[in-house]
Amino acid sequence: MQIRIGQEILSREALLDSAGLLVEFSKAKGDMLTWQKDEQQHDVIDLVGGFGSTLLGHNHPELVQTMQQLLSADRPMWVQGAQRPMAQQLRTVLADKLYSETQKQYQIVLLNTGTEAVEAALKHAQYEYYQRINDAQKSCAQNWREFQVRLATNHVELSDDFFCECERLLEQEPIETLDELKSAIEFRNQHAFNLPSKVAAFKGAFHGKTRGSLATTYNRDARLPFIANNPDATFIDDADEFTTKIDTWQSHYWYIEFSPLRLVKKPINQLAAVIYEPIQGEGGVVPLSASHNALLRHIKAQYPSTAIIADEIQCGLGRTGAFLESVANDTPNDYITLAKSLGGGLCKISALAVEKSRYHNEFSMLHSTTFSDDDLSSAVALKTLALLERDDIKLKTMQLGEHFLSAFNQLAQDYPDMITQVRGKGCMLGIELASFADHPSATISNLDCENVLSMAIAGYLLHKHHIRVLPSLGKRKVLRMQPSGYFDSAQIIKVVDAFRQAFDLIRSHQVAPLLSHLIHSELALTPFSKIMNHPQRDEPIATGVDKVAFISHLIDQDSLNEIDPGWEVFDEYEQEELNQHILPVTLPSILARRLVTSSTGKQIELVLFGIQMDAESIEADRRFNQAKIIRSQVHEAYRLAREEGCKLVGFGGYTSIVTNNCCDFTFNTPAATSGNALTVAASINTILSSAERHGIELSKATIAVCGAAGNIGQVHSAVLAKYCQSLLLITRAGSTSNMNKTLDIICENLYQAVDQQQTGGQLLKVCRDWLAPRLGSEEPHVLIRELKSILLARQLLVVSEQFETCKTADVIVSNTSSPTTVFTHNYIAQHKPVLISDVAVPKDVPEDIVLTRPNVKLIRGGVVNLSHNPNFTLPGMLLPSGQVYACCGETMLLGLAGTFSHFSMGALTCSQVEQVQALAAIHGFELDQEKPQNDVLQAAS
Ligand SMILES: Cc1ncc(COP(=O)(O)O)c(C=O)c1O
Repeated sequence: MQIRIGQEILSREALLDSAGLLVEFSKAKGDMLTWQKDEQQHDVIDLVGGFGSTLLGHNHPELVQTMQQLLSADRPMWVQGAQRPMAQQLRTVLADKLYSETQKQYQIVLLNTGTEAVEAALKHAQYEYYQRINDAQKSCAQNWREFQVRLATNHVELSDDFFCECERLLEQEPIETLDELKSAIEFRNQHAFNLPSKVAAFKGAFHGKTRGSLATTYNRDARLPFIANNPDATFIDDADEFTTKIDTWQSHYWYIEFSPLRLVKKPINQLAAVIYEPIQGEGGVVPLSASHNALLRHIKAQYPSTAIIADEIQCGLGRTGAFLESVANDTPNDYITLAKSLGGGLCKISALAVEKSRYHNEFSMLHSTTFSDDDLSSAVALKTLALLERDDIKLKTMQLGEHFLSAFNQLAQDYPDMITQVRGKGCMLGIELASFADHPSATISNLDCENVLSMAIAGYLLHKHHIRVLPSLGKRKVLRMQPSGYFDSAQIIKVVDAFRQAFDLIRSHQVAPLLSHLIHSELALTPFSKIMNHPQRDEPIATGVDKVAFISHLIDQDSLNEIDPGWEVFDEYEQEELNQHILPVTLPSILARRLVTSSTGKQIELVLFGIQMDAESIEADRRFNQAKIIRSQVHEAYRLAREEGCKLVGFGGYTSIVTNNCCDFTFNTPAATSGNALTVAASINTILSSAERHGIELSKATIAVCGAAGNIGQVHSAVLAKYCQSLLLITRAGSTSNMNKTLDIICENLYQAVDQQQTGGQLLKVCRDWLAPRLGSEEPHVLIRELKSILLARQLLVVSEQFETCKTADVIVSNTSSPTTVFTHNYIAQHKPVLISDVAVPKDVPEDIVLTRPNVKLIRGGVVNLSHNPNFTLPGMLLPSGQVYACCGETMLLGLAGTFSHFSMGALTCSQVEQVQALAAIHGFELDQEKPQNDVLQAAS
């Protein structure tokens, strides 16, 4: 089983494990499994039923006994090429049984697995087709010989009319001689004989996964990698459309008739086989529709050479209340495939039954396998057939089906918001879940969008109620149940009650009890009457407004709680563990849609995509996994944004860092922007306006920039250099080359400021004093290089790897990409006012620093105020209404300005900062931002 989640194909194990379903059972009896969990044995009701192979339950005692007797009698199992009496007996018994069901004689071919039976059926149908063509070719050769004899013996007479007619029919000229006639007929006929045969199957079908049967299995994910060398069957959806298509698959060859002499067409039907399941199992327990039933009967009547294969591997042998569902449905069955329960839940055995009149004896040579026809599986299959008969299993399954269906239909009535349909017959049942895409819980909606909510429910039912169900492969919204014919109907109440409890949790938005088993957390279930208060997802937005997207990730535990309060009951470690579990099966999802209004009246829609990884797990992914997970999530979010019709995508937090400040996105649409320009603009604006208010004379101040070698740090340093007395550039070890670049940019900026006669702080004055007399005397780059040496020598620019050096600073800008806070009060001066602009998300500076350092003014550097959108909130951002991170603000501004080309991509420039600053003024975004919580905290201190 391959499962596609977004762009990834997950292994079956990874998917089952993500839902806690990959557990080990130690015993199996009837419909019960024993699960050794936490040093205790638990009885589990098994409704998966060996994917339909335990119609007689697990380890049926009489079948076990049959096996044991055979083994202790030292029967020769592998004597290929000798008489195999058990296999022969099985063929006879099975053929008799099929005769009694269908009144038709079948030849039985014994094989090992379901897919092999399907392969054999398709091969035999193909062989039938090949033989028909072969026979036609032979009869054409014979026909020409007879023609020649008749001509030689004057039994036919050639005429000009005959040749003219041949020219017309064969669409070839001239045909005036026998040789020309012969080659024209051969040319036409050879073309017809070379036409490929066709195979058809139904939309939603599952017939196995080896190459031949895979081509008839509908699930595209399973077929896709193999299509090139394994052409697909034609999949039937609309019956009328397919009827028309069959007409185009009718061809003909030419044949001579002698009295009167004329050329006639003989038909070739290219449709070699149609395969169908009377009830689709893996496709979600879907019975054959009336129109498809009629189509099959039409094919049988009109094109009898087409082999109609009834794949009863899952539904046959009595599972649905009839021995053969094709018989109960009155659908054609030239071939019948059986497997699964034929081995009584103990052996691997399958059978292909081909109607005798169509069977080619040489097929036993053309399709043989080492392991078929063995005594052990033949004996068990014989005993299985006997038990099916003796215990009237089909009656039992029919009655059980009625019980189950009435209980499930009641459930569907009580939970119409959870169940769209209950389907099935006998002991082949399915519950199709409703769509939860708009569920208020972002987690439930995300799991549903990735088609894994059914897995999560199955995990919950197993762990909390000891009931084992699984979704069907092809339609994962359907939970499929295949109890044995001996299922204890008293257990149905328990099953239904467990479903009720699962649905109650979903109804009351409670993610925690639904998923807590994944992290072995024994959470007390919150009463389901308490409905969680989730953030608003969508707000009404008129169509036609431009859409922009913003990609965010979790900041920390609080931001996850804000997005989905259902996670609140878990502690930090539990949240992380649970997230690790479900991350492989989830994709970025739309967390909110918001209308953004400019002061000019212009409006755009902002679509927020959330990635469920927090800063710490992203950092771990970067360090140990080359950021593979977060990058693939960001790329997926970008793809989804394009699908949503967004014209611009902004990248929040690490999402721009891991894509190299958006340089990964070379496509023209949607345009990309890192959000860095407005982040710098907002931080600098706030510093410029707050410093004086806080008693700091900026022109004489020492400004420390932490993370100065980074993209944002560089431009911060370059702009702030003009306003201060000295600049402390702090970076982590190993960033020397980036730091040199920072120094170059700072000095270039200072040079320009002097050249343009700007005023500012002491540092700029020093530069002016030194540069003014020298301007024009040397090339600018030479002067800038010398300026750099002088400023470093005079310690007006200081580079350090120690955060402690911030102690001398009056203003600190911090923008490291650390997932945790990096500052302690020891890094901050004690006896003078200090202004800190914390631009980092997550924060670099702990909020409570103001409690131990009352001289500190802490501001949220990278936040802007949306004065025209006072109620604006985005889930997970942990910001008060009306505020937004500047990186998101930049996306909004560019959207409002109609700038849908790449903006702050790659290295940031001072001019980009100026451009967004101007846009902010036009659209009423306030950049001067002081952190409100800080005031509260300061008041408290
Ligand atoms: C209808 C049908 N056909 C074929 C197969 C393939 O059988 P196997 O898994 O034994 O190869 C299955 C298996 O689920 C099936 O349900």
